[in-house]
Amino acid sequence: MIGQPFKPVAKGPNPLEWLELTYHIRSLAETDRFGGRLAAALTAGDVLGLVGELGSGKTTLIQSIGRALGVGEPVHSPTFVIAHHYAGRIPIYHLDAYRLETWEMARSAALEDYFEPDGITLVEWADRIIELLPERTIWLYLQVDSEQERQFQLFLPQPVEARWISWRDGAK
Ligand SMILES: Nc1ncnc2c1ncn2[C@@H]1O[C@H](COP(=O)(O)OP(=O)(O)OP(=O)(O)O)[C@@H](O)[C@H]1O
Ligand SMILES: [Mg+2]
Repeated sequence: MIGQPFKPVAKGPNPLEWLELTYHIRSLAETDRFGGRLAAALTAGDVLGLVGELGSGKTTLIQSIGRALGVGEPVHSPTFVIAHHYAGRIPIYHLDAYRLETWEMARSAALEDYFEPDGITLVEWADRIIELLPERTIWLYLQVDSEQERQFQLFLPQPVEARWISWRDGAK
């Protein structure tokens, strides 16, 4: 490995204050509903950083968000490239930082090109490239509780916009 390795962060992605919301997801269908709700709350310019171990459901959730935003084609993780672009109701940029091993690789991938004000950017393994993400990135930590169950923790940067208050209250 050339260069300085990434140092993943545990929690509380940067010194801003966060509104932290926790959801217990009991099935794939609930993940799909969560993705649909999230898709309705996200707006152009948002960056959503997904953090969770292999198989925790990052791609699965992004597929639900994509479907809800009208992406007609199947959404796959970008395995051999860093990013995919999907044409939904608004552009969707799907990034996967898993294979970025050094800061040099990350910088040369010109990720900032995908943080576009016209679209929504969804980043798998976002903790690997935290320093390259916008300060107001929304974070979602995914944890496996059992084969079907997940815990999702959403971190919304303060001050929280009105749409997220509606989101929080809508989930009650
Ligand atoms: N409630 C659930 N939510 C999401 N995925 C679930 C759930 N229950 C079971 N699964 C299964 O868990 C797996 C999640 O895989 P997925 O590829 O989405 O994970 P990932 O976090 O993107 O992994 P990777 O780090 O390899 O990219 C899928 O096989 C999916 O069917
Ligand atoms: Mg994945």
